[in-house]
Amino acid sequence: MIRRTFLTGRRVFFLGLRCFSSGGEITADAPADLTQQASLYVHWPYCLRRCSYCNFNKYIPRGDNAHVMTECLQRETEALLQLSQVSSITSVFFGGGTPSLAQPSTIAVILETVSRRVNLSDEAEVTLEVNPTPVGMAKLEDYCRAGVNRFSIGVQTLQDDGLSLLGRDHNSHQALRTIEEARRLRPGRVSVDVMFGRPHQTVGSWERELSELLRACDDHVSLYQLTLERGTRLFQQVHQGAVAVPAEDETADMYQCARTTLQQHGLVQYEVSNFARHNAVSHHNLSYWKGRQYIGVGPGAHGRFVPLAEGGGVREARTQTLEPDVWIREVRRRGHGTRRRIPLHRLELLEEALAMGLRMTEGITHKHWGMFSPQLGLREVFGSSADVQELLHSGHLILDDRGLRCSWAGLALLDSMLPALLVELETQIPQRSPVEHGAEGRRPPPS
Ligand SMILES: C[S@@+](CC[C@H](N)C(=O)[O-])C[C@H]1O[C@@H](n2cnc3c(N)ncnc32)[C@H](O)[C@@H]1O
Ligand SMILES: *[C@@H]1O[C@H](CO)[C@@H](O)[C@H](O)[C@H]1NC(C)=O
Ligand SMILES: *[C@@H]1O[C@H](CO)[C@@H](O)[C@H](O)[C@H]1NC(C)=O
Ligand code: SF4
Repeated sequence: MIRRTFLTGRRVFFLGLRCFSSGGEITADAPADLTQQASLYVHWPYCLRRCSYCNFNKYIPRGDNAHVMTECLQRETEALLQLSQVSSITSVFFGGGTPSLAQPSTIAVILETVSRRVNLSDEAEVTLEVNPTPVGMAKLEDYCRAGVNRFSIGVQTLQDDGLSLLGRDHNSHQALRTIEEARRLRPGRVSVDVMFGRPHQTVGSWERELSELLRACDDHVSLYQLTLERGTRLFQQVHQGAVAVPAEDETADMYQCARTTLQQHGLVQYEVSNFARHNAVSHHNLSYWKGRQYIGVGPGAHGRFVPLAEGGGVREARTQTLEPDVWIREVRRRGHGTRRRIPLHRLELLEEALAMGLRMTEGITHKHWGMFSPQLGLREVFGSSADVQELLHSGHLILDDRGLRCSWAGLALLDSMLPALLVELETQIPQRSPVEHGAEGRRPPPS
């Protein structure tokens, strides 16, 4: 009955949801205790080459503009911190693109800018994504000096033929050495990204890969299911029949196999695609799943925060200009390169809280839900839906004194359960006032 789907770690920014235009009547403000702090994402938009599967916002640099990028990232960080009026930044994540192409001094400048403007605790998690090439590895120590205290390494696979199919510019030996060096510098704070559902992969070969990975890895693993993205070389190769990818069922088996194997080695699953030992979870990513504010700096970066300095009280989904040269011009002209702002009203906030929160194994606690929906509890929203009852009876979903969460089996099917939950949410959330639910409280059809 439930379609078999599985999920990847890529849906961090939940943009798949319809964006309702605000009817004007919803004025529910974001909770005040959510507006004082935020996490910070910084996007480095350059890569030395294009991996065959990747459609992220990345560009091959035409010349060396490290100086200009540093200046503009710094300026935009200042502008958006000021706009948000947050008093502290709880974590920083340097992603890309390939942020391990940036100079350690660039990282230091941005972190100093944050510290100068707001509270940034020495204990705050500061992660840098690293491509495991010799160039990246050579800079790890200097990144630590700049303030980085966690590394996320894009290993993808430890098989050399697999790496060349993906168009990666590192080999397995370099990946292992980079992991080793990162663990020496920041023991217990190194994560590896690995990908499954890759061309020519089988469940058997994936099992062998996992055991090799388990010998090398530190205390955190992120699993990415390969998505064939339109416009990439791999997409074309697969559609022309030149390269074969595993069938859907087989990929689902790979996911289940990885969950079980990692768990057996003490890497506890805490989110759809994330596993940690000794509680070495990613606090930065957890803040997304918990629906906290984040500020996105750099070309194409996404953010979700209340621009308090403008006097409003509504959280916005904000996207920065994609193209680095255009973004640079905008930052120089007006201090930031924000291209799109979408206000998130009550229903949209709850949709995101639901879709993101259920990705965590602990799910959504009553307290967590209450921050976004003080009037209508989880039981009130979902208790009366026949579709949701069915998910509870089948054991895929659990609603109890702790809150709402997926069971072990349900987590692999989250994508197929969400529509029923979102429909119920839309039905139950009144538009004008909390007492007005029922037919009149429903959102008018989009015009
Ligand atoms: C966009 S990359 C940025 C970090 C770094 N450049 C790297 O490649 O590791 C972050 C993660 O997204 C994954 N990713 C990119 N495109 C993907 C796709 N089409 N399907 C699944 N994962 C993908 C990458 O493999 C990588 O581990
Ligand atoms: C964690 O957050 C970073 C920064 O936004 C993102 O690039 C990465 O894909 C996330 N990891 C997972 C596994 O969701
Ligand atoms: C840092 O935090 C303290 C205590 O929470 C607060 O009083 C102070 O204003 C914050 N600093 C800035 C620059 O916001
Ligand atoms: S996967 Fe990483 S290194 Fe490869 S093109 Fe995408 S962002 Fe760049």
